[in-house]
Amino acid sequence: MDAISNVDETTSFFDSAPLLKDADNISNKLTQFIDHNSFLSGSGGPRRVVCVTSGGTTVPLEQRCVRYIDNFSSGHRGATSTEYFLKSGYSVVFLYRRGTCQPYCRALPDDPLLECFEFTDDFCIQVQESHSEAVKRAIREHHATVSGGFLLKLPFTTIFEYLQILRLIATSMKIIGANGMFYLAAAVSDFYVPWESMAVHKIQSASGPLDMRLAQVPKMLSILRKEWAPTAFYVSFKLETDKEILLEKADTSLKRYKMHAVVANELSTRKELVILVTNTAKVSVYRENHNSDVESPLIKLLVDKHSTFINNT
Ligand code: PMT
Repeated sequence: MDAISNVDETTSFFDSAPLLKDADNISNKLTQFIDHNSFLSGSGGPRRVVCVTSGGTTVPLEQRCVRYIDNFSSGHRGATSTEYFLKSGYSVVFLYRRGTCQPYCRALPDDPLLECFEFTDDFCIQVQESHSEAVKRAIREHHATVSGGFLLKLPFTTIFEYLQILRLIATSMKIIGANGMFYLAAAVSDFYVPWESMAVHKIQSASGPLDMRLAQVPKMLSILRKEWAPTAFYVSFKLETDKEILLEKADTSLKRYKMHAVVANELSTRKELVILVTNTAKVSVYRENHNSDVESPLIKLLVDKHSTFINNT
């Protein structure tokens, strides 16, 4: 697609999207977060900030939405990576799908409220011994990073919310230039129903089979890279189920959108192995053992690449 039609499609996407509720509040939070972090120092320079996107976007089929199309992502990659970025001295804007995996909560059971706590008597609830370390760690780390101003969490559900918030984040991060990184792990819808052509009420099944034409979601990577925050460091993801085409697609994405790195992963092995594709090499990154995370070596590599990028800028 040529550059002009991508810009046109992007403009029409935003013009027709339902207004983001809470946009002013989100902008204020972002301004405060970026201001706060601009005054902090990190290893050998100003503190770095990364925007981690996580979880899948939905595409509503009705304005008063009952049905929607979803994109697969548990949010595990985004949440885990956020922890490793924080550990490496970054501050993180965590743009996540509501209800998906959260930083520091990975060791908790599926339903923490019901499974971690118990009554001792009618007046007292306490943490079960078996979960107490995990609960303490989750509360301690989460509280320290949020109240210290190192972690800002912004939720989305639909593709409309995701892209509008991503634009707000990118324009706020523009001022930190090369110290900013985008780590785009969210699974973003490729097709959507434009708001103005969407049914208002629940679509009736009595009308027979559903015939629907979906418009293409403009590839935001190029707009993000060229317009919204052009001096940041960019890492995007490529997910495939067919490993034969994975590296070629990652390479195309790297070149087409001028990414600094693309993380290629295959659905069934994504927790064990990722391949970091850059202009100079393709590096396989494995988790060390069954109890470790592939994000640990991955984030180390990316932090090094970001340092080189900052030094060269
Ligand atoms: O959450 P988990 O269960 O742990 O799984 C993690 C993951 C597999 C979801 C993650 O590692 C991953 O691969 N995320 C990207 C999946 C994806 O949707 O790939 P894609 O080929 O559709 O998109 C490639 C890139 O383009 C992505 O960085 C995406 O943010 C971006 N994109 C996509 C569509 C669009 N319209 N605009 C975009 O900018």
